Order: sequence, then structure tokens, then C-alpha cells
Amino acid sequence: MSNTNDAMTRRGLLEKALGTAALLSALESTNPLAGDTPPDAAPTAVRIRDSFDFGWRFFKGDAPGAQEPPFADASWRSLDLPHDWSIEGPFSPHEPSGGSGGYAPTGIGWYRKTFRLPDTYIGRKVSVEFDGVYQNSEVWINGHYLGKRPYGYISFAYDLTPYLRPGNNTIAVRVDNSGQPSSRWYSGSGIYRHTWITATDPVHIAHWGTFVTTPRVAQEKATVQVRTRVRNDGLATAACTLVISIVERAGNIVASANASELVGAGDDYEFVEQMVVANPRLWSVSRPTLYRVRATVKVGDRVVDECETPFGIREALFDADRGFLLNGEHVKLNGVCLHHDGGCVGAAVPERVWERRLEILRAMGSNAIRTSHNPPAPEFLDLCDRMGFLVMEEAFDEWKAGKGQVHGNGYSRIYDEWHERDITDFVRRDRNHPAVVLWSCGNEIPDQISGHGVEILRELMAIFHREDPTRPVTAACDQIAAEPKAAPVEFLNLLDIVGYNYVDRWRERRELYYSIDKLAHPNWRMIGTESVSIGGPRGDYRRLMPAELGQAAPTPAMGQAGFGAGFDRGLDAEDLWQFVRTHDYVAGDFMWTGIDYLGEGFGQARGSSSGVIDTCGFPKDGYYFYQSQWTDKPVLHLFPHWNWKGREGQFLTVICYTNCDSVELFLNGKSIGVKGYVFPRYGMQGRYGQFAPRPRGAARTTSDLHLTWDVPYEPGTLRAVGMKNGKVAAETEIATVGEPAAIGLSVDRGAIQAGGRDVAHVTAKVLDKMGRVHPDAENEITFAIQGAGKLIGVDNGNLSGLAVNLKGHVIQAFHGMCLAVVESTADAGEIRVSAAAPGLTAASVTVMARA
Ligand code: GAL
Repeated sequence: MSNTNDAMTRRGLLEKALGTAALLSALESTNPLAGDTPPDAAPTAVRIRDSFDFGWRFFKGDAPGAQEPPFADASWRSLDLPHDWSIEGPFSPHEPSGGSGGYAPTGIGWYRKTFRLPDTYIGRKVSVEFDGVYQNSEVWINGHYLGKRPYGYISFAYDLTPYLRPGNNTIAVRVDNSGQPSSRWYSGSGIYRHTWITATDPVHIAHWGTFVTTPRVAQEKATVQVRTRVRNDGLATAACTLVISIVERAGNIVASANASELVGAGDDYEFVEQMVVANPRLWSVSRPTLYRVRATVKVGDRVVDECETPFGIREALFDADRGFLLNGEHVKLNGVCLHHDGGCVGAAVPERVWERRLEILRAMGSNAIRTSHNPPAPEFLDLCDRMGFLVMEEAFDEWKAGKGQVHGNGYSRIYDEWHERDITDFVRRDRNHPAVVLWSCGNEIPDQISGHGVEILRELMAIFHREDPTRPVTAACDQIAAEPKAAPVEFLNLLDIVGYNYVDRWRERRELYYSIDKLAHPNWRMIGTESVSIGGPRGDYRRLMPAELGQAAPTPAMGQAGFGAGFDRGLDAEDLWQFVRTHDYVAGDFMWTGIDYLGEGFGQARGSSSGVIDTCGFPKDGYYFYQSQWTDKPVLHLFPHWNWKGREGQFLTVICYTNCDSVELFLNGKSIGVKGYVFPRYGMQGRYGQFAPRPRGAARTTSDLHLTWDVPYEPGTLRAVGMKNGKVAAETEIATVGEPAAIGLSVDRGAIQAGGRDVAHVTAKVLDKMGRVHPDAENEITFAIQGAGKLIGVDNGNLSGLAVNLKGHVIQAFHGMCLAVVESTADAGEIRVSAAAPGLTAASVTVMARA
């Protein structure tokens, strides 16, 4: 079976998936492949890997007997995978998923697909792969039980060969997500990731059987080592030759090696080959160059298998004093934690949704992602490889001891039986991604402080190291220095990297952070696996407003802020960053969270607003704090908005995130004063009294990392002018805007790929008659799609309230904005998206779906 790290192949397959439809659903009438292939034609490829996503039937509920091929499923809904039935709603306070699961429906569901094998598959080894099914999936082929996989975030495969027949075959999948809440965050329900079908020769490269490492990396040359497990499912011993080629981006082979071995019937053999690549282009955050390993298996002269695995040549090191070093260069991990949902698309997230989100994070200056608290979809890691994100990939949220929020339905239920298998599969699937630089064996694991925690961890570390000796392993610990009982030192000593969740939680660590442990354990390598972010609902400034400060009960919208109470938490983030930035030994930090997520809601909230980006991908104010610290481009961001009718004459606090040397604020043309912050302050250099020259005009008015002015409110325009090195580097303004008058539409890309996979993100803004966004507009927007596209989700970033249909056509604007996610269909052509609302001038935008 193919290596699922084959990102280029995966993307290519998805792009052509509808066009080839190699695995024909019997519900369709003709087989395009069979029609095109002369009966005696040789198979076109030694290994075939096709999308298995199309032409399924779905039933929500239990359907005893549905594993049997004759079962009548004609009344079941037709759909294509990936599919998440939870996001379809309705959301209800009575759903057993509760706040943890975002009040989404869960339960049991069945999927069936009846298909005929194309001729190219006949007589070969055929297997099916599931990238993720949440959860407790059971799979049957033609009534034969293939197995069960409880963990909903793990990828797995089954061999179908012995059970396939000429003519129709039926695969059936039962999904049981009824033990609720099963997760502390929104999981989704169903076959929510891609599925694949593969045909190989009996002699083939084993599933996840390729392991590429780069034991020595330098500018002049790098050593690449490739381990390849070749399996012989044939009846006779095979004289195998394995040819390994290293292929660079343009397709040239830059190194190769080969070896031969007899592989017995029913046996496998691991080839280990080493090659030198001269003048390698190293994989890095700013230049994520990828190479491919092409592994070709021959029996005699006959090529029987060929696999390609992308990889990167890079050296990733964690050092106790110097922090994280990539190719010898110090890189601070400016990280964000992310859950796996994609907002209105739920857990079934089109790749482009993640790509856009990662683009927005990159523009903020983030270079690292923690996949909290579970393995992500394979294509997510492909994107990180291509875009240069460093990934801390996490396996679990529980070991043996459960967490209160999930009442024994979490991973602890299956830990004993499944942890070794799950970790093995997790690491084997993902160990070729250059993006992955750190494994995490768990998040805030209660066993950390139990008597047996040390023994459990010792075993887990051994499994990780056995499967991947090249990467360090951490755990996201929340009990370091906890009172009355802290994680024992023997536990922390076992970790390759000590991972701190909320390092500033206990006593004087609020000021001293990691320094206490650095003194006590100079050899520990340290990283902030989770820490405070600057969340809160986008555009909600009631906490900043004088009148609301004294209010006792938070409004629902304030309650939904949950973990992200906004600006005041940002002060903690500023202090932490001052420490992390100036202490190299801290490898970096992953803030909670980069993007808002579904689940872990409070009261009537479907999700948590702890991100600096909302579920639509719209940046909040906190985004610009990180951008001001993590990028070099001039950042100048003012908030709140300037529509405060009824507060004339009151002093309002205007806040600015910037990296300019000084900022002058003007209200209706009048200066309110020049401000600037001092961080980082550098000491004298060379001799007494000699400081690095301060930029011309730099102001020093605060040691915070934001600026403020108290401004008596009057309608009009606030304008900020930022100076760098004595020159105007940035200007911005916020104005009192008029009543909502029109809708403004924009789209992230003018052209997308036809084929039912690619998506366009259409942003609707409620504008006044001068074209300015109204900061409080809540108009109900109705989207309509014509042409070669369909709406797959609407969202506004407001996680409070359960009465929302994310799969409908109508959504209220939230603080003046909302989003429609539009997917291409099979056909190429124009997609026209229009948006209308009573009393507003309607708008439309077009996107081309290209073949
Ligand atoms: C952490 C936990 C996260 C999330 C967060 C909310 O302790 O690891 O999963 O629950 O708290 O603040």
C-alpha cells in the first residue's frame, strides 16, 4: 500500500478524483475506466491509489443487518466523503455531547458503498484506507467483518483481497459515537476524513513501510537514509531489488542506491539504504524545499511496485541552552495550538480551508502548530511541509485515568488495549514529514501525578523511540509545580523535552516563568506547550467600556468568551512573550489557541473564543499583537471601533498594537499625543555609556507591549501615524460610520479547481454608504449560488447561541461580517455567489471553477 506521506500524489489524486472515478459506484451506470481500457491492456501503473470518497449512502441511526450486501439502502441519503453528521445540527442543549461537544448531535451512523472494481484492480492486492472515522468504526466487506478501530483520530487500513468478487462489492461502515461526551472539544461524527483504495502486486512496499531520515545535514552535503519494508504476499520466494532514488523538485534524480534480497512468501524484509545528496536545499520555515524518495521494487526485471514519499533535508535540534535550532540556526517557535475542526464545515475540512487558515496564521508571524490534542488529517501535515510550519504532533488527551468532562468515554476507556497500536500507527504515518519536529504523548494527563504515571510514561517513551529514534518526545504538563501535588521529577526527567502548559500558573512563576526550573535542572530542554492567548469574541468591546465594567452577570456573549476573555488576558500574553523572547533556552511557545474552535463551550455557546482568529478566519485584535511581535513588517492596529453614540464626552481607552518606534494619535485632526514602548531594551555595548543608537523620534511611554490613550469620545475619525527610524511607516484610521447601507463581497481566490474538492471563501461585509464596515451590524444575509458550485457552510464567528444552521443559506452578520464557503462541483464553469439582506444593496461575486 502506498505511503500516505505521499503528499503530491494525494493532492493530485484529489484533484482528478471525480474525473477518473476509478472505483465505480454501482449506483452509476457506466465505468469510464473500463470503457477506455482495452481488455488485454497492461495495467497502467504498478501501484494504483484512488480516492474512495465518492458514491456512498448514509443512514443516521443504527441499522442492524446493514453489513450484508443485499440490505436495502435505496432510501439512505447519497453523499460523498468526507462527511461529518454532527455539524449538520441541530444544536441543542439536550444533546448528550453537552458543552464539550458543542451541543452537536452525535449517536450512531452507517455508511455503505456498492462498487465494481475496475479491470486494473483485478487479480491484485487491494486494500482500503480510512484517514479518520470518529469513532468506534467497524468495517465489513461483502458481509465479512474486517475489524474495529475505536480511536477516532487514527488512520487505518484493511486488506480486502480475499473477500472481493467480480461484479458488485459492498463495503459497510458502522460508526458509534453514542457514548457522550466522548471528547473535551468538538470531535465531529462519521467518516470525516478521506478514504482511499489501493491495488498492488503481491510483492509490494508495506503500508507506512517507508522511513526517511537525514542523519547528517550540512550545506555541502547531506546523508539521506531510507528504510523500506518490502512485503511478499505471494506464494513463492521473490528475488527483490529495491532501487531508491532521491528526486528533487524539478524531477531530477540527485542520488540513488539499490540492494537485492530474497523475500520469502508471507514474509517481509526491511531494506536500509544510505545516499549522499550534494549541496542540498535545506527545508526551513522560510524555504520549505521538499524532495521525494522514489522507491522501486523489482522482482527479476519486472517492476512490481513504486512509491513516492516527500521529505525534507533538515536538522531539527532542541538544546538545553540554545532552544530550538533548525539547520543550526536559532528559531523561536512562535506557536499556536489548533483543534481539528474547520468552523462551519465541522470536522470534514477541505484542504483549502486549512491552507487559508495557515496563510492567515503565517501572515501573523506564526511558524509552529501544536495539533492539540490528537493526530490531524494527513493533508494538514502535507500543508505544513509545503508552507514551512513546525509541528508538535500530539497523540492523546488521556492515558489510563479519565478526565471529568468525558465521564469515562475518553481514551482512558481503550488505553490498555489500543495505546501501543495507536502510537505505532500514528508515528509510522507521520514520521516522514519534515514539518513534524516534536511528538507529544499527551495533554494535561491526569496520570502525571499518580503513582503509576512514571511507569506509563516510560513505556510510552519507549514506543515512540522505537518507531522514531530521530525526534524528541514531550508531554504537555499542567502539574509542574502544582499544589498540593506536583508532577514528580522522575516523570519530568523521562521526557526528552519538558512541556509546560501555562508555565505562569503557580506562585512566583507568574513572574519568573521557566527560570526557577532552569536553575534547578540546567539540562532540561523546555518548551511552552500551551499558554494564554488573547481571545474573546471578535469585535465585542463591552469589557473595555466603562459602564459595563461594574456589571455583575456577564452577558451571554461575554460568557462565551470562555477561555478568551480578551484584552485583559492579553496582558499576561505580553509578559510571557517578553520572557520567552529574551530567553533562548525556552524553545518557544504554543498559545491557546490560534483559531477559535467548536466545543468546550460554556452556557449556550457552541465553542470557545480563545483564538486570535475566529472560526471564519477573521483576525481579532489580539492577532495584531502577535503580528507586531512576530513579524518585521510595520504593524499598526487600533481598537475598539469608533461608534459609541450616547457616550459623547466619556473617556474611552484606545489601544494600539504596533511595532513602530512611536505612534501619534489624532482625533478629528487634533493630536492626542505620541506614545511608544521600550521593549526590547538592550544594555550598553562595548564600553560604559554606549548604547545601540535609539531610532530617531522613538518614544518611551510604557514597558507594556501595547499603547493606550484615554480619549474623550466624539464622533469622527481617529487616525494613528506610526514612525520607524524617523519616517512614517504606517497609518491607519477608524471612523464613526453611518447606518448599514450595502453588502460588500470579496473572495479569497478568483479561480478554484473543479472536481468537488476545492473551495472559495466569500466574505460578506455590511457597509455604510461610504463603503465602511459597520462594527455592530447584525443584518441577516442570504447567500445564493448559481453555476458550478455549492454552498457547504455559512458562519459569522459568533459561537454563542445554538439556533444556527451552518449548512443553510442564511446567517446574521456578526460585528459587520460573515462568511460563505463554496465548493466546486464536478464540472468546470463560472460560480456566481450573491448575497442579499432587506434594506441593503445586494452584491455578487464570481469565481471560476477550472478543469
Ligand atoms: C487547557 C487544555 C485545553 C483547553 C484549555 C482551555 O488546560 O489543555 O484543552 O481545555 O485548557 O483554557
